[in-house]
Amino acid sequence: MSSKKLVFSGVQPTGNLHLGNYLGAIKNFVSLQNDMNCVYCVVDLHAITTFQNPDELKNNILETTASFLATGLDPNKSIIFNQSSVSAHSELAWIFNCVSKVGWLNRMTQFKDKAGSDKEKASVGLYIYPNLMAADILLYKATHVPVGADQKQHLELTRDIAQKFNKDFNCKDFFPLPEPLILKNISRVMSLRDGTKKMSKSEESDYSRINLKDSSDEIVKKIKKAKSDSEPIPDNIKSLEKKPEALNLLTIYSEVSKTNLEKALIEMAGKEYSYIKGKLADLLVAEISPIGKEIVKLMNDKTHLTKILKKGSEKASIKAEENLKNIREKVGLI
Ligand code: TYM
Repeated sequence: MSSKKLVFSGVQPTGNLHLGNYLGAIKNFVSLQNDMNCVYCVVDLHAITTFQNPDELKNNILETTASFLATGLDPNKSIIFNQSSVSAHSELAWIFNCVSKVGWLNRMTQFKDKAGSDKEKASVGLYIYPNLMAADILLYKATHVPVGADQKQHLELTRDIAQKFNKDFNCKDFFPLPEPLILKNISRVMSLRDGTKKMSKSEESDYSRINLKDSSDEIVKKIKKAKSDSEPIPDNIKSLEKKPEALNLLTIYSEVSKTNLEKALIEMAGKEYSYIKGKLADLLVAEISPIGKEIVKLMNDKTHLTKILKKGSEKASIKAEENLKNIREKVGLI
């Protein structure tokens, strides 16, 4: 097996990137780019598994690219591109549709969540979404995949597909088995309105999330209104775990104040939630507002963003085409 490490990850351009995307994944993309070869993809083909307005999609592809740059991704260090511009992703996804099993896909909880109660009406694309995700990763023979906890099951499926392909086509170690890189402290940022649900772009109430583009005032207002608890902050993790909204606020606080949950609890035990909310709002304004402003600035020059994607696609295509050629050979396609 090639020992070369390669990082791959993707973000859907469905608008409103939020604190969960940032703390759970994108911030980690940025720290990895200094030490490893990294490929970061705006996964527009995944986005269209649910209907997207075409004009909004175009804008969101550029805005996600702008968000990558605004959070510190550097196109001179990382390859940044959009998925649909490298057609090898779709081609490998088809091959994987023929390797992956219906039984495996039937177990995917994200499909069940997204399709809702009427699965018959979900697109076929939404159902086979994880096979495309496996194609994204394995097309580059990526070894490490930074993601939030919600993507863990998709990564397990990717490993199953890699293993089955290697076995079916008698090519031991051809595809590496990629490792998920899931941050221990902050793998799942929860909704500010309901600590049992993850923070998400699709939740109706905008008060449930901090968007990267929120103004300082909006950030302060949302943290102030975040659900907490009537009793003071407990002094131990066991009690905190029984209060999901409080646990979420303390987890976010510990992350943005660069400490850990234990230390944050020592600092906050016995205090009212208004105290932590004030401190958290200040920290979030300091970290998120400059990103939001930079996104807006970058979106004023869409030609520049398009050029970055084009250059990234050219670099990604070279790797992708070379690997796809070998994959086609293994399968017996001429
Ligand atoms: P997406 O676009 O939903 O989310 C992008 C990244 O943000 C993470 N994330 C969170 N982390 C912590 N707390 C949250 N509340 C939260 N919400 C989102 C996600 O885990 C993800 O890492 N299927 C992927 C996109 C994808 C991909 C790939 C990822 C397509 N191909 C290949 C890795 C490798 C998705 O829908 O992410």
